[in-house]
Amino acid sequence: MAVTARQATGSCRRRVQVDYISFRRVQARSLPLGTTVWWRYLEDNPVARAVVAREFDSVTTENDLKMEFVQPREGEFDFQAGDELVGFARRHGMEIRGHTLVWGQQLPRWLTEPRDPWSRDELISILTNHIRTVVGRYRGQIAEWDVVNEAIAEDGSYTRNFWLEGIGPEYIELAFRWAREADPTARLFYNDFGIEGANPRSDAVFDLAADLRRRGVPIDGVGSQRHSFLGDVTSEADVVASLRRFASLGLRVRITEMDVTIPPANVAPSSLRAQAKLYRETASACRRVRACTGFTVWGVSDPFSWRGAETTPLFLDASYLGKPAYYAVRETLPVQ
Ligand code: XIL
Repeated sequence: MAVTARQATGSCRRRVQVDYISFRRVQARSLPLGTTVWWRYLEDNPVARAVVAREFDSVTTENDLKMEFVQPREGEFDFQAGDELVGFARRHGMEIRGHTLVWGQQLPRWLTEPRDPWSRDELISILTNHIRTVVGRYRGQIAEWDVVNEAIAEDGSYTRNFWLEGIGPEYIELAFRWAREADPTARLFYNDFGIEGANPRSDAVFDLAADLRRRGVPIDGVGSQRHSFLGDVTSEADVVASLRRFASLGLRVRITEMDVTIPPANVAPSSLRAQAKLYRETASACRRVRACTGFTVWGVSDPFSWRGAETTPLFLDASYLGKPAYYAVRETLPVQ
């Protein structure tokens, strides 16, 4: 069943049966609005699937392509959930962001607790094989990858993680090079949190990205996660300045993991308004920066949030109804 443009821009409250594929085409925004999905939450939940298809233009893989899940045994890959999620997103014409190839967390036990310690060369070969296999599997299907996640600490030094300790800081550039080889068409991002304002981590990510660019390492963008909270004082102007600074390197930028926690049991209208303000300002900052290519919320609705459902950090509530933050974002990122 086709839908009219008027229906397509209608509120989230309207529960109409539609052909979601044509709905999405009508709905495409000038700036993609994305969410993240862990396939296990969607596979038995047709309502959540319909909401994702109806509300969002882009999907980031929340956990299914992290090393812990995708390479559960050495050299053995499990792509079942990833394939389902990628298939779902493709059927609905959504852009797919792959997350994440190299991170110090969510690593499989066989890797972090080996019988004999790994040599540096062994770790390099494990990481190459991982990146080549995972990126190669979705070549031409996953448009954008978070290649390296959270490699810089709050004080601006390298995050002390498994890869830094085993390989040294070169793991970062090696990952970008192998990802480019495995899919030359995919856009490759560095992704981190707490870099939406001016601070030592943001400076160090800028220096890292500048250095990678200068040396011809294939990086295309910087993702700013923006896990926020009521009372976050980083202003819209701060976010604009931070995004513009990364963009000045000739990179794309993106808000990749937006959420705003509210202290549990505090759903006073003023809290919801304060939450909406943070969402609105961040979406608006992205809109004001030409290089900002998308705005992604980290979860479909409150009960799915990694920050705990009780902190109600997302813009759809437990009934998939739009909270003030939802309308703030929809107004800020208008339908084309
Ligand atoms: C989170 C997922 O949402 C959770 O389901 C999982 O248990 C832990 O990881 N920054 C990131 C994401 O880059 O990968 C994290 O996702 C949230 C913080």
